[in-house]
Amino acid sequence: MNIDTEHLHHWMRAIRNSKDPMRTMDAFWRGQIASKEWLINELNRVRAYTVDHPSVDIHGGWVGVLASMLFQTNLYLKNIRSVDIDPECESIANDMNQIELEQGRFRAVTADMCTLRSDADIVINTSCEHITQDQYDLWLAGLPQNSLIILQSNNYKIPEHVRTADTIEGFKTQSSLSHILYAGELELPLYKRFMIIGHK
Ligand SMILES: C[S@@+](CC[C@H](N)C(=O)[O-])C[C@H]1O[C@@H](n2cnc3c(N)ncnc32)[C@H](O)[C@@H]1O
Repeated sequence: MNIDTEHLHHWMRAIRNSKDPMRTMDAFWRGQIASKEWLINELNRVRAYTVDHPSVDIHGGWVGVLASMLFQTNLYLKNIRSVDIDPECESIANDMNQIELEQGRFRAVTADMCTLRSDADIVINTSCEHITQDQYDLWLAGLPQNSLIILQSNNYKIPEHVRTADTIEGFKTQSSLSHILYAGELELPLYKRFMIIGHK
């Protein structure tokens, strides 16, 4: 996908303004960006399963890179709310998405995804490995019946990954979506990333 120079400027500004620029740049490792590009490509293929100009919630949205990448596609999104429990993420994500923030199409929120209500047409959670099975079950229960749900996890075993999956079949079992439109895996140098798109 193409990143335009105006958005690139805001990415650099967000990194420079953040308290710990090296940490913020963790969101830009090749594997992180490749996983987001993969998500965008597969979402494009199933876009008929959601409304025109959908609203989007990104849960565990981190510093807002996926939101910015989504805005730069031809998916014509109405708005994006990026939710993260880490209060450091809010201002960085707002800086990263400054253009759409000023247009009233982006908002970063500090909250626990598990206790937040969502009514978005598309709900994305690429941080499934960061929440326990109990937290995930609570999170899923709070989502609307008709939202298109996009999930990513991985098999990368490090202490902060509290619930990895070993295979795509294992990830499907953890995720318990009743209607799956897409399930696949992406081989990255250090780990495999899994993705499921469907409805609950
Ligand atoms: C390292 S990041 C993102 C990793 C993921 N693979 C990705 O690229 O999207 C994981 C994020 O999930 C957030 N997070 C963890 N538990 C959360 C929760 N209960 N509610 C909201 N955000 C949460 C963390 O604060 C962190 O910013």
